[in-house]
Amino acid sequence: MYIVQIASECAPVIKAGGLGDVVYGLSRELEVRGHAVEVILPKYDCMRYDHVWGMHDAYRDLWVPWYGGTIHCSVYCGWVHGQLCFFIEPHSGDNFFNRGIYYGANDDNMRFAFFSKAALEFLLQSNKRPDILHCHDWQTGLVPVMLFEMYKFHGMGTQRVVYTIHNFKHQGMAGPDVLRATGLNNDAYYYSRDRLVDDFHPGAINFMKGGIVYSNFVNTVSPHHAWEARFSDIGCGLGRILEVHQSKFGGVLNGIDYNLWNPESDRYIPGFYNKDDLEGKAKDKKALRERLLLRDSDKPLICYIGRLDNQKGVHLVHHAIYYALHKGAQFVLLGSATEAAINSKFWHEKQHLNNNPDCHLELGFNEELSHLIYAGADMIVVPSNYEPCGLTQVISLRYGTVPIVRGVGGLVNTVFDRDYDQNKPLEERNGFVFYQSDYQALESAMSRALDLWAKEPEEFQKLVKQGMEYDYSWNHPGEQYVGIYDYIRHK
Ligand code: ADP
Ligand code: GLC
Repeated sequence: MYIVQIASECAPVIKAGGLGDVVYGLSRELEVRGHAVEVILPKYDCMRYDHVWGMHDAYRDLWVPWYGGTIHCSVYCGWVHGQLCFFIEPHSGDNFFNRGIYYGANDDNMRFAFFSKAALEFLLQSNKRPDILHCHDWQTGLVPVMLFEMYKFHGMGTQRVVYTIHNFKHQGMAGPDVLRATGLNNDAYYYSRDRLVDDFHPGAINFMKGGIVYSNFVNTVSPHHAWEARFSDIGCGLGRILEVHQSKFGGVLNGIDYNLWNPESDRYIPGFYNKDDLEGKAKDKKALRERLLLRDSDKPLICYIGRLDNQKGVHLVHHAIYYALHKGAQFVLLGSATEAAINSKFWHEKQHLNNNPDCHLELGFNEELSHLIYAGADMIVVPSNYEPCGLTQVISLRYGTVPIVRGVGGLVNTVFDRDYDQNKPLEERNGFVFYQSDYQALESAMSRALDLWAKEPEEFQKLVKQGMEYDYSWNHPGEQYVGIYDYIRHK
């Protein structure tokens, strides 16, 4: 099959979180399975060009209709660690992509509406006719809308669309302006409850709802989150439309790229290891301590890696730091905050906590350091408020770092409590789970983990190995996506 992914991120060239990992990892898996895959992205000013090989302008003149006129774009092409990617750059008018990945709500709506339109125009004008368009998150929700309402009349009637929702919280909403801009000219038609209008804001069209209504198949990134989205308020107002379209909605658990995330060959860690020989992990712990100026000691090391956002349960992340120190453990945090208030809270904490030789907070995005932390830590905390899938716990399992997680979303599908999980035999349990979003619940799970580490080190090692035995590569989800593509092509 010929598959084109349209997305706002692709690791490592442009990544704000797990979406980037998924677009890259899934594309590679599909290629390994013999499919032809291309990825279409915006050409941002903040891309990591050092990860693109052979970049050149493949299509100099792409003319994108916009507000009744046209915007002149070029499409660049290059290989991101073996993956063929196309990058769209507007020349005339506003260069939408010269202000970071995500900029701000209203502006972003127009930027990504334009990107969606430009991606379709690129396929049309370059005569690319993929079997499957795989679109991701609100940024590309208008792709299937435009494909089936406009482009199918221009010889693109056989393309099928899979729409993957990574986060229901951000849906993309705009006024009728966006219909004018993209050429979807018929307000009354699109402003209907079974098409684009937001169920709770009658003045706005909702990009994600459009993606759900118009795609041939819709999924979120874990089975448990698919259930939550339909039956709890986690669907952020989209529960009704998911119910209407339930026959084409499901959950596919993410994988991680086992070549990029591999403790046996990771280029960012000094000590290599695997589940049968963990000596390298001790070397990585030492290197991590040296790098972050933590004292060398026989204490356990707990980490947090991730966005500092309300989704991630920041109040519990904050509490975990103090509780770990109180219990005699070390703590390392690598986090990036987008909200000014959260950023300044952690910035102030950092000023005094980094004087403590058992603690280090690193604010900002640092791919290389994240690898060393996954390898060097003993445990990771993931106390999310909600988590569609979550990759940090899965990467940690791969690196023998025991996850302590809140039982929501994809965390439920990937981490199985050592002491209490009744559905898994003892030898298949791999971490610690708590359910309430409060200090006591977090403390109880952390203290169970720390006690095991201190009092029953052999049992702790067993848990480490059991976690490393899980296969959370793209192998299984890759097969599931191919099944979905096949199904919608022949339906
Ligand atoms: P989300 O997509 O909601 O942010 P995930 O757990 O799915 O959460 O994925 C997060 C990805 O981003 C992981 O690959 C993680 O290692 C990475 N990551 C998150 N924050 C940082 C950071 N500050 N520095 C480096 N990598 C980070
Ligand atoms: C989102 C979700 C996260 C998921 C990631 C990749 O950002 O917050 O849970 O793992 O997308 O699908």
